[in-house]
Amino acid sequence: MSSLKTRLITIFLVVFLISWLVTEIFGLLEGLLAAVLCLSLLLVQQLWYVYKFSRFLSSANFNQASSTSGIWGEVYYRLHKLVSTLRGQVLDVEQQHSRFIQAVQATPNGVVMLNEDDQIEWCNSIAEKHLGINAKRDSMQRITHILRKPAFVQYIIRQNYREPIRLNNMGLFEQFSLDVQIFPYGDKQKLLLSQDVSQIEKTDSMRRDFVANVSHELKTPLTVLSGFLETVQELELNESDRVKFLNLMTIQTERMKTLVQDLLTLAKLEGNPEPPINQLVPMENILQRVIVEAEGLSQGKHQIDLQIKSIKNLLGDDQELYSAFSNLVSNAIRYTPEGGKITVQWFDDANEAIFCVTDTGPGIAEQHIPRLTERFYRIDRSRSRDTGGTGLGMAIVNHVMSRHHGQLKIESSLGVGSRFYLIFPEERIAPQKINLSVKAE
Ligand SMILES: Nc1ncnc2c1ncn2[C@@H]1O[C@H](COP(=O)(O)OP(=O)(O)OP(=O)(O)O)[C@@H](O)[C@H]1O
Ligand SMILES: [Mg+2]
Repeated sequence: MSSLKTRLITIFLVVFLISWLVTEIFGLLEGLLAAVLCLSLLLVQQLWYVYKFSRFLSSANFNQASSTSGIWGEVYYRLHKLVSTLRGQVLDVEQQHSRFIQAVQATPNGVVMLNEDDQIEWCNSIAEKHLGINAKRDSMQRITHILRKPAFVQYIIRQNYREPIRLNNMGLFEQFSLDVQIFPYGDKQKLLLSQDVSQIEKTDSMRRDFVANVSHELKTPLTVLSGFLETVQELELNESDRVKFLNLMTIQTERMKTLVQDLLTLAKLEGNPEPPINQLVPMENILQRVIVEAEGLSQGKHQIDLQIKSIKNLLGDDQELYSAFSNLVSNAIRYTPEGGKITVQWFDDANEAIFCVTDTGPGIAEQHIPRLTERFYRIDRSRSRDTGGTGLGMAIVNHVMSRHHGQLKIESSLGVGSRFYLIFPEERIAPQKINLSVKAE
């Protein structure tokens, strides 16, 4: 039996006992009067407690424990317990809700909840940024009043939400592209998700440019080659003309070979894991090979100096590094007119090791410098093509440097010459020493 019931029964038993005792001692009428008196007192007491209880309810201060005892003490105690349980449940729901909101806020996607009339009920901060919504101001606004792009309005009207739609040229200052899709849920509610696809768009357009560039680069020598082939097949050529044509055809084939080789090098650089941190790259050996190659390319038309001022070696991939050094030195030779001077230096400075190539060539105008590392970027296409350039060399150098966590720095002034630095960080410098006696001039 609950204690509340016990207390009620006890009260009525006490009243009955008093009335019975009075009846036994003084008679029935006195007994009845005693009962009425007791019940009236009880009624007054209960009315007082009801008054206090109603004041307690209206104060809404359920935390304060009541000092009342008896039946009303029990009522207060139960109410207090009920309120605490409900409070706990409300807190749980609130925590779940805030965790859900935090999770939705943390997604890199925009999320908008729409009602059946396409009015905004809630959105996260990414959606505000993506779609230009102000969560407070635009609450219960139709989404098509905020996002007015005709493609999106049509998407909403057609109600065919199986595929996302792409919205380009979004954003006022910084342009970006979005994929937007709607997912119906619940009772005619809709969830709108937006994803920033600018990077994908950029990669797509880079891929398209790349294919166009490669095709263009191959088309030119192929056209020349097929022209020569036709001539050789159709015309009766004397020996000297035949040799001349064959030489020209060899030059075009070499061009294509170089292009394919450079493309393969770039693909390898992109696909391979980072160069090893524990593989020694003997600088003396590499610098000598670079100089021998440079002298072969120059054929005595330039003055080539090698200055080794550091005894440090590098850690990384020797083939990649060789190709970076050789690209810079061969550029210096190819773009510097006869009689010019090329200086190759290897030195260190505090915690960096630096490879530097200086030439007395035509120099590079300031606006071209940041673009030199773009694939197929050539300042003077015809001049570069004359020298057999495909515009991939600096892209390779840049890749090699970023793979070795190094830095490429270019200084140049028109009519004076250019200087290219490859700066290697401490982590890529080997502790071993090299033999200074092999310094080449
Ligand atoms: N030392 C230099 N002096 C003047 N211009 C240079 C020099 N090095 C590079 N350039 C310019 O930068 C452009 C890009 O160089 P990059 O090495 O990427 O291509 P490339 O030499 O034309 O071809 P590749 O190296 O693929 O055979 C060159 O076409 C040239 O115009
Ligand atoms: Mg080059």
